[in-house]
Amino acid sequence: MDQQSVVTAYRRLSRQYDRFFGPVFEQGRQVSVRAMDCQPGDRVLEVGVGTGLSLDHYPEGVEVVGIDVSPEMLDYARSRVNGNADRVTLQVMDGQSVDYPDDSFDKVVAMYVVSVAPDPKKVIDEMKRVCKPGGELFIVNHFSQGKGPMASLERLASPLSKLVGFRPSFPMADFLAMADLDVVETRPVNAFGYWTFIHARNR
Ligand SMILES: C[S@@+](CC[C@H](N)C(=O)[O-])C[C@H]1O[C@@H](n2cnc3c(N)ncnc32)[C@H](O)[C@@H]1O
Repeated sequence: MDQQSVVTAYRRLSRQYDRFFGPVFEQGRQVSVRAMDCQPGDRVLEVGVGTGLSLDHYPEGVEVVGIDVSPEMLDYARSRVNGNADRVTLQVMDGQSVDYPDDSFDKVVAMYVVSVAPDPKKVIDEMKRVCKPGGELFIVNHFSQGKGPMASLERLASPLSKLVGFRPSFPMADFLAMADLDVVETRPVNAFGYWTFIHARNR
């Protein structure tokens, strides 16, 4: 998908997003925010924050900047912020070209975004650039298995993947070679472990 198609897809999907993708993706959100182990004063960038379903998971005292290319998805996120307004900033912004200086954040997270973006490498490069050296990067994404029982499941889930603009074929080995990350941990998440949580340390 090109960028305009992504924006159009999420404009259409925004109203129904929470109903369909709230519960399905929830475990990955909780695993990610828990693994971030945010401390008071931490500054976090969430790329592709969507309707803000993760925002309640962050502890008090953490500053969260959520960016997304879809104004409509962000409208729902804004309605969620309420009392957290002093610690959450939401901005329409492309994760492939982040409008923040180098080394701005302690932790950068992208949940279910990397393979939606037209250029996943640009997203990862930007995540690394705006994260402080020694900071942490967190990604949740679906990576294709290619063969075995998971490949059959993949074929079944393929319409769901396409609905949210995911590249259904994105092998993890290709992603890791492209992303060049110092991986700390990978873990299967969500139903059938169909998605993968990745924790990496920024160089
Ligand atoms: C599958 S949704 C995930 C939303 C949220 N992270 C969640 O856990 O439900 C993907 C989101 O990424 C956003 N997105 C896609 N490409 C993007 C990009 N290049 N930069 C920022 N956000 C992007 C979409 O607009 C959408 O809100």
